[in-house]
Amino acid sequence: MASLIDTVRDFKGFSDIRPKPRLKDESIPRDMGLPLLGYTLDFLKDPLALSEKLYRRNGNIVRTRMVNEVILMYGPEANQFVLQNTDHQFSSEWGWWYHLHRVFPNNVMMMDGDLHWFQRKLMAHAFKKPQLVEYLNRMNPEIRTGLTKFPTGRNVLMFPAIKKLTLDMGAKIFMGTDVGPQADQLNHDFLVTVDAAMAIIRDPVPGTLMARGVKARQRLEDYFYGMIAQKRATQSPDFFSQFCHAEDDNGQRFTDKQIVDHMIFLMMAAHDTTTSTLTTMIYALGKDQKWQDRLREKSMALGNDFLEFDQLAELNEHEWCMNEALRMYPPLTSMPRGVAKDCEFQGHKLYRGELVGISPILTHYLPEYWSNPYQFDPERFGPGRAEQKKNFFQFIPFGGGHHTCLGQHFAGVQVKAMMHQMLRHYRWSVPKDYTIPYQLVPIVKPKDDLPVTFEKIR
Ligand code: HEM
Repeated sequence: MASLIDTVRDFKGFSDIRPKPRLKDESIPRDMGLPLLGYTLDFLKDPLALSEKLYRRNGNIVRTRMVNEVILMYGPEANQFVLQNTDHQFSSEWGWWYHLHRVFPNNVMMMDGDLHWFQRKLMAHAFKKPQLVEYLNRMNPEIRTGLTKFPTGRNVLMFPAIKKLTLDMGAKIFMGTDVGPQADQLNHDFLVTVDAAMAIIRDPVPGTLMARGVKARQRLEDYFYGMIAQKRATQSPDFFSQFCHAEDDNGQRFTDKQIVDHMIFLMMAAHDTTTSTLTTMIYALGKDQKWQDRLREKSMALGNDFLEFDQLAELNEHEWCMNEALRMYPPLTSMPRGVAKDCEFQGHKLYRGELVGISPILTHYLPEYWSNPYQFDPERFGPGRAEQKKNFFQFIPFGGGHHTCLGQHFAGVQVKAMMHQMLRHYRWSVPKDYTIPYQLVPIVKPKDDLPVTFEKIR
């Protein structure tokens, strides 16, 4: 088998050669929306409402258009078929290419087959239990310092405050450094780069979102390139350093470019998704004071601000709340793939070259699987009800199969550690009639930055 580095070097990507599908199965219902744009604007506005409409009208598979023609597949069976990908019939590269190749090129989520397997295996070392224990120990004081900088009082904007804190933590844990004075610029650049992934105009034409995204990406690259020499010269227990020193059996190392591409993707994957989850939890608990008190009681009972790894399991209710936030607002509301081999789903033929998409968010609201799906009800994840267990693929905020989120446990540790300290020292609320105005694409976030009343209690 080729070595890790050879595979990376030789890899050209499927996307350049994604063929036009030679056939289309006419048994798949068509619901195409407007000429050219299709349902793109509806998708950008509210992917849940659009998916519900398409699902109600057409059933669990439909051919539609979001600029590109795409077959949307709904429900746990479709999720399983696409994510398990048992015959490698789907390509992540072809699915994500359209969105990510300019702003997050060569990232592991966009890789297929051997290349993906090698990269994922190497990365997985950084997410093993001893590393997670170490990360938690380093997170705890960061959270304490970060929280002391949160403003208190009315109309505290939670989203930017949380985003800054997760970026600072990510920088320490992934890069082994303080971000320093560039923090605001870096934060801005990550934000613009992620937004550009969903830009309608795909070429970096001056003045467009994509042009800003490409520029922001360039600044991120400069930042990471600027640190490589120092990272190669020393060894430290952070992810950046591990990449700089990783060697295959022939003693070959990653190039600077490969390291920079992975680091930028990882910082984004870690930073925006966790921020989104924490923001939803803060919103939901700000509305539901009973649940906030229940979690606070648990956190108080543990007695210490700095969680230890073995104490994580004691915070069950925190986990139910996190799961409920991820059910209602999964940071990634949909996942795309390309059909790499002709295959068949429930009697419908999918041809090589077609694009398909699955929808975690729609699955998370299907009344066959969830009672009162529009209600925030963390108890549904408790052992008494365990609603998520009806079907393994009904709850997929972290995806599934080959590309299951590598940072799932890391995110759980970070969210628990963060909520734990917040609950022990602060109380927060939102007005009873307040509903968070969400932007669901590309990654779920509040349009109004989530203003809350935030008070110190001890
Ligand atoms: C609550 C937080 C998070 C959510 C909801 C989330 C969600 C996801 C999802 C849905 C995928 C799969 C996408 C697909 O199959 O197309 C994914 C992949 C990935 N995530 Fe996360 N993620 C989270 C946090 C993190 C964190 C903290 C990290 C890193 C520290 C991370 C690193 C990754 C990586 C490296 C992949 C690609 C894995 C592969 O392709 O093999 N994620 N994530």
